[in-house]
Amino acid sequence: MKKILAIVLSMLMVCACFTVHAEEAHKVGISMPTRDLQRWNQDGEYMQRMFEEAGYVVDLQYAGNDVQTQLSQIENMIANGAEVLVIAAIEGSSLGEALDMAAEYGIPVIAYDRLLMESDAVSFYATFDNYKVGTVQGTYIKDTLDLDNAEGPFNLEITAGDPGDNNALFFYQGAIDVLAPYIESGKLVVVSGQTEFEQVATPLWSTATAQSRAENILSTYYNDGTVLDAWLCSNDSTALGVTNALVANYTGAYPIVTGQDCDVANTKNMIAGLQSMSVFKDTRTLAAQVVHMVTQIFNGEEVDVNDRETYNNGVIVVPSFLCEPVFADANNYEEILIESGYYTPDQLQ
Ligand code: BGC
Repeated sequence: MKKILAIVLSMLMVCACFTVHAEEAHKVGISMPTRDLQRWNQDGEYMQRMFEEAGYVVDLQYAGNDVQTQLSQIENMIANGAEVLVIAAIEGSSLGEALDMAAEYGIPVIAYDRLLMESDAVSFYATFDNYKVGTVQGTYIKDTLDLDNAEGPFNLEITAGDPGDNNALFFYQGAIDVLAPYIESGKLVVVSGQTEFEQVATPLWSTATAQSRAENILSTYYNDGTVLDAWLCSNDSTALGVTNALVANYTGAYPIVTGQDCDVANTKNMIAGLQSMSVFKDTRTLAAQVVHMVTQIFNGEEVDVNDRETYNNGVIVVPSFLCEPVFADANNYEEILIESGYYTPDQLQ
C-alpha cells in the first residue's frame, strides 16, 4: 500500500513539475511574409532558435506573400494561445482585423522590420534605421561619381520597393534626399524621367518585375549608346532583377548598382563586380533585440526603445528600436559576413 502511495505521489509530483513548466513557457506567434526571399527565412530561423533557447514556445508561420493567408495565420495564432505576436507584414495596412483581435485579448504586438500601419494595436516596432539605409545608398552614388567635383553630367535610373511596405518609402527618401540637389542642378540626369516613388516602385519587391522594368528602360533609353552611370536599387531582390537586365541588355561600361540585405546571390554579384554595394542588416541582431523586448514585456519591465518620433503609423507613433545598418561591398564582405559567422565561405562560392 505504502509503495503504491509513493508511486502515485511521485507521479503527481512529475505532473506538477510539467504543469509549472507549461505555465512558464510563454507562447510567441511569429508571422513572416514569405519564404521566397532569403532574409525572411533567416529572420524566422534566428528568432525561432533564440526564442526556444530562452524557453519560449514558438508558432512560426510564413504567409506566401498572400495577405489573406497572413491574416488567418495570425488569427489562428491567437486562437491557439499566442501571448505575444511578432509580425513582419506583407502589406502594412491590411492586418487590421487580426490586430483588433489581438487588442481584444490584450496580446502585445511587435511590428518586425516593417511597420504595421493604421492601427493603435501595435505595441512596439523593431527594425533597422530605414532612412539611413537609403542615405548610405545615395551617399555611395554621390561619392563614387564624385558629384561635388566631377563635371558630369551622369545618368541615373532608380528602382524602389513595394508601395505596401512603409520601409520602401524610407529607403527611397533617404537616397533621394542625398541625390535630389544633383538631379535638380542637372549633374545627375534620370534619362527615363522616372523619378517619383510611384513610377519607380516594385510591387512585392519582385525580382522579375524589377527586371522587366529595367529591360524596358534599357531598350527605350539606352539602346543608342547612351551611357548609364548608376542604378539606385533599394534592395537586393530588385538589384538582382536590374543586374540580370544589365548583363543581358547593356553593353557600355558597367554602372554602379546599389542594394540592401547582402543576400547570397547579391554578395556573389558584388564579388563578381556586378553589384557595387549592399547594406548589411544583421538579422541576428534584430532577432535578439525582439527576444529581449518580449522578455521585458513578460517580466513587466520597461521595454528598451531608442526612437519615439519617427514611426507614425497613421494612428499612433510607435515606440521603436532601430538597429544600425552597415555598408557592405567587395572590400569588407569577408570581415562582416564571413568572419562574423553570417555565411560560410562555401555559401559564397
Ligand atoms: C526589408 C528589406 C527587404 C524588403 C524585401 C523590407 O521591408 O526591410 O530588408 O529587402 O523588405 O523583402
